[in-house]
Amino acid sequence: MSDNSFGVNHLAIIMDGNGRWAQARGLERSAGHKAGAENVLKIMRSVKEFGIKYLTLYAFSTENWKRPAEEVGGLMKLLKEFTFNQLPAMQKEDVRLNAIGRLDALPDAARLGLLAAMKATRNNRSGVLTLALNYGGRAELVDAAVKFAQEVKAGRVAPDALDENMFEKYLYDPELPPPELVVRTSGELRISNFLLWQMAYSELYITDVLWPDFDRHELQKALESFRGRDRRFGGVKK
Ligand code: FPP
Repeated sequence: MSDNSFGVNHLAIIMDGNGRWAQARGLERSAGHKAGAENVLKIMRSVKEFGIKYLTLYAFSTENWKRPAEEVGGLMKLLKEFTFNQLPAMQKEDVRLNAIGRLDALPDAARLGLLAAMKATRNNRSGVLTLALNYGGRAELVDAAVKFAQEVKAGRVAPDALDENMFEKYLYDPELPPPELVVRTSGELRISNFLLWQMAYSELYITDVLWPDFDRHELQKALESFRGRDRRFGGVKK
């Protein structure tokens, strides 16, 4: 791993534009998702090369169930294939596979493959690839509130003990640091219910490049843009 000269420890990406990538080539949307899935490990390798430990990818949102059943089924199949086919690469790269979201609602085939790959890679230390699956930022906050309420009801914590640090312990993965940088591909200027809590002070980088075309060079451009930012976290310039 190289020196992290960009100062990014956690990069999160909204992988948008698979459909447009396919359309531009006269292909079915499913071909775009396939190309998008093939890009994941390539970007993981580049991320590691740039000294970034955590990569979080928005792979399926709580709203994505609204897509045609065939497309949803295709995405779930891709997830299953990804966790199976890319497992040797994740082991070779010493990357731990992780997931956030309402995983219980994923179809069995996809969920079991995911859990198996997470278990198989759990001791890997060089990187953490987190897939946001059946993930919604609002759902995560609601789920955290429910877990906290259950703790209160059980008498294990006082309601007024809650502060921001404690609240974070109820998120899907309390170990996941906030992303310094969030990239969105394919030009849309919104955050689409991604990492609402964790993104409070993240820098945003939006590129018109479609996800299957987002490569090492485009990643470097995003990181260079980040390096030039003045992060104040609500304070004043030092
Ligand atoms: C947005 O493209 C992308 C998604 C809804 C899902 C992202 C999924 C992948 C990259 C493939 C599966 C990933 C893994 C890890 C197996 P879009 O369909 O909204 O594109 P469009 O806006 O151009 O229509």
